[in-house]
Amino acid sequence: MGKYMSEIGSNFYNEYQTKEGKRFTIEQPTSEHADELINYSKKIFSSTDQVLTTPEEYSMTVDNEIEWIKILNNNPNSLLLIAKLNSAIIGFLFFISNSKKKASHTGEFGVSVHPDHQGQGVGKRLIETLLQWARKNSQIEKVVLQVFATNKKAIELYKKIGFIEEGRHIKAIKQPDGTYVDIVQMFIETH
Ligand SMILES: CC(C)(COP(=O)(O)OP(=O)(O)OC[C@H]1O[C@@H](n2cnc3c(N)ncnc32)[C@H](O)[C@@H]1OP(=O)(O)O)[C@@H](O)C(=O)NCCC(=O)NCCS
Repeated sequence: MGKYMSEIGSNFYNEYQTKEGKRFTIEQPTSEHADELINYSKKIFSSTDQVLTTPEEYSMTVDNEIEWIKILNNNPNSLLLIAKLNSAIIGFLFFISNSKKKASHTGEFGVSVHPDHQGQGVGKRLIETLLQWARKNSQIEKVVLQVFATNKKAIELYKKIGFIEEGRHIKAIKQPDGTYVDIVQMFIETH
């Protein structure tokens, strides 16, 4: 356990059910999840063209992932969450607060759910858990996200939770087929 001692981690542990009635949990990952999280991320990046990173570009090492998990778990204004079903990671959320003092009341998150478990309410629970945490955090007042304008499923979910579009980066993305896509920025206030 020695090398994991400095991590805060494991403050969250909540149980939920998917729409099909399967039990899943939401908790905070530790360094022990680094390997599994890398494999999970590879699966996500190869399953959709609606995220920025391509599978070929993803080159995270276990050591770097361990370091990243530790840094975020030790930052009281950042948050990592995993959803687990039958002890496998099926969802992931990271929230990183802005490191600049004048923008430190804001932070951005990214979320994903394993393709086999999408549409089951897991993404919604992950974001709701983030917002509960943010409302208790005295520093975080505004939570933002960026999403491809073509990612209808994700935009639908964010709107349902209360996120509002605040701007667009026009033609920020060029898909491999040459199609341009805007990036939509959305936000919600937590204080
Ligand atoms: C976007 C994503 C995180 C959503 O997670 P999810 O667990 O599938 O979503 P949920 O089951 O919690 O869906 C909640 C809401 O989203 C919307 N939604 C979900 N699936 C949908 C679909 N196929 N079509 C339209 N809306 C959909 C619905 O409004 C749904 O509400 P409802 O359950 O009341 O019907 C997930 O699909 C994903 O990981 N996609 C690939 C990676 C990605 O795009 N990440 C976001 C990058 S910004």
